[in-house]
Amino acid sequence: MKIGVLKEIHAGEKRVATTPDVTEKLIKLGFDVVIQAGAGEAANFSDKSYLEAGANICKDAKTTCDAADVLIKVRAPQKNLNTATHEMELIRRGCNIISFIWPAQNEGLLRQLAEHNITALAMDSIPRISRAQKLDALSSMANIAGYRSVVEASNQFGRFFSGQITAAGKVAPAKVMVIGAGVAGLAAIGTAKSLGAIVRAFDTRPEVKDQILSMDAEFLELEFEEDGSGEGGYAKVMSKEFIEAEMALFAEQAKEVDIIITTALIPGKPAPELVTEAMVKSMRDGGVIVDLAAEQGGNCALTVPGKVVKKYGITIVGYADLPSRMAAQSSQLYATNIYNLLEEMCPEKNGELEVDMENVVVRGATVVNSGKITWPPPPIEVSTRKPSYSGQTMEVESKPATKAEQKEPSRVALAAKSAWLPVFIAGLVLFGLGQVAPASFMSHFTVFVLSCFIGYMVIWNVSPSLHTPLMSVTNAISSIIVLGALTQLSSDSSIIMILSIIAVFITSVNIIGGFSVTQRMLQMFKG
Ligand code: NAI
Repeated sequence: MKIGVLKEIHAGEKRVATTPDVTEKLIKLGFDVVIQAGAGEAANFSDKSYLEAGANICKDAKTTCDAADVLIKVRAPQKNLNTATHEMELIRRGCNIISFIWPAQNEGLLRQLAEHNITALAMDSIPRISRAQKLDALSSMANIAGYRSVVEASNQFGRFFSGQITAAGKVAPAKVMVIGAGVAGLAAIGTAKSLGAIVRAFDTRPEVKDQILSMDAEFLELEFEEDGSGEGGYAKVMSKEFIEAEMALFAEQAKEVDIIITTALIPGKPAPELVTEAMVKSMRDGGVIVDLAAEQGGNCALTVPGKVVKKYGITIVGYADLPSRMAAQSSQLYATNIYNLLEEMCPEKNGELEVDMENVVVRGATVVNSGKITWPPPPIEVSTRKPSYSGQTMEVESKPATKAEQKEPSRVALAAKSAWLPVFIAGLVLFGLGQVAPASFMSHFTVFVLSCFIGYMVIWNVSPSLHTPLMSVTNAISSIIVLGALTQLSSDSSIIMILSIIAVFITSVNIIGGFSVTQRMLQMFKG
């Protein structure tokens, strides 16, 4: 099949749906790739680089659409304001489209896609489950927006983020408050921290506290009993009392901080207004607010979507195109998200696309299938495990029990009984072995079995989030073989002595490295 990549026509959109790197990978997956001339120009990918990656260049949108079986785009098909042609008029009937579509806000477009007998997959409808993380374009874009929000803030701020002592005087570090610690908020915290600012953050979902602390930022506590976690680990609308208490906290903070980055949003709802005009007025001169929720109405009362405005000496940034302002990076991540979706849909790696509606990820993203509107998808059964020690919420796809499974509880009891059978057989084998094997073998064997048992029991009780540090510490301990090398150090043979010295050196690196890596990992979990 041929994948076609169109040049984006939305005003100011600089991203492109694939990059030369990803083009090479698509070709390896068995697809041919055709690119509209100049499609990657705004993101700094030349036609030449696509040609070198193995793609063909089509002179315009019409020829690209005619050649393509699968069109990949960033923005949903829309009217070209320069030529007054709608992209839908160019797209072949029966073609496949993968792009952001926002089906809830674009019912008219869904109908048009269906009338054209098109199969459309919306990158914004990829279910947010663990397995689909590598396809999650919303998170990729939010991550970039979070990073860029700090860059925009620093551009407007005109001062250092980090504290400095210079010959010309002392500079205090900038204070940054981040409201909402989802993907964008966490990226903003990480970026502001790495620039040296003092960072404080607040979120209604208590489970993000550990994530904020692990990034060495301060979690703003609110004396209020209400959990903001909604369905599937997302936020829910908070009570009026909670919002009032939270706003009182922000009012206090506004007088102290230099920069506010707001990212608070509940999916499918207008953004809550959390920063009032009075709070803006109370900020110190030169302060900056970056409102990432601008497009959904804004978290700040004075935000103008898409614009930078200045009021009371404070700059309020309401850009709604932050990922596009880092077009090379966002195109690379978006292209990789699309590649991962195509890989999921092309298991044979033969360049043929399979829209498997049994596959929960493909089902979630497919909004129109061969001319039939299939949005909204049925809800996915997600069981959200409460935060583990790392504070991360795990989402696990769970299948409802089949009727047959529900009817047969006796099977479970049977399984429990049969679990004793191997123990009984193992006992018999041991007894038989004891009759024939020498006594020294039996004593070593017993120690071996007991150590396996103790090791198993120790690891079994460790929280899964601590398995990585546990592995690195056991790796360090495994270097106990250094004892063998130490005993051979005083050997008469110089070869053995040299080998022992090398062994001691190598195992020491393993021991010291293992323990220090464990130490660093454990630091990340400390609240
Ligand atoms: P998300 O849904 O993962 O995060 C939103 C966070 O806000 C959640 O952690 C939620 O608990 C928190 N929140 C909700 N209500 C709150 C309240 N009253 N007080 C404090 N926290 C509250 O969303 P994600 O992906 O991190 O994106 C964040 C925002 O950035 C969204 O509004 C998104 O549309 C926007 N965005 C903006 C872009 C731009 O160019 N301006 C680009 C990409 C995303």
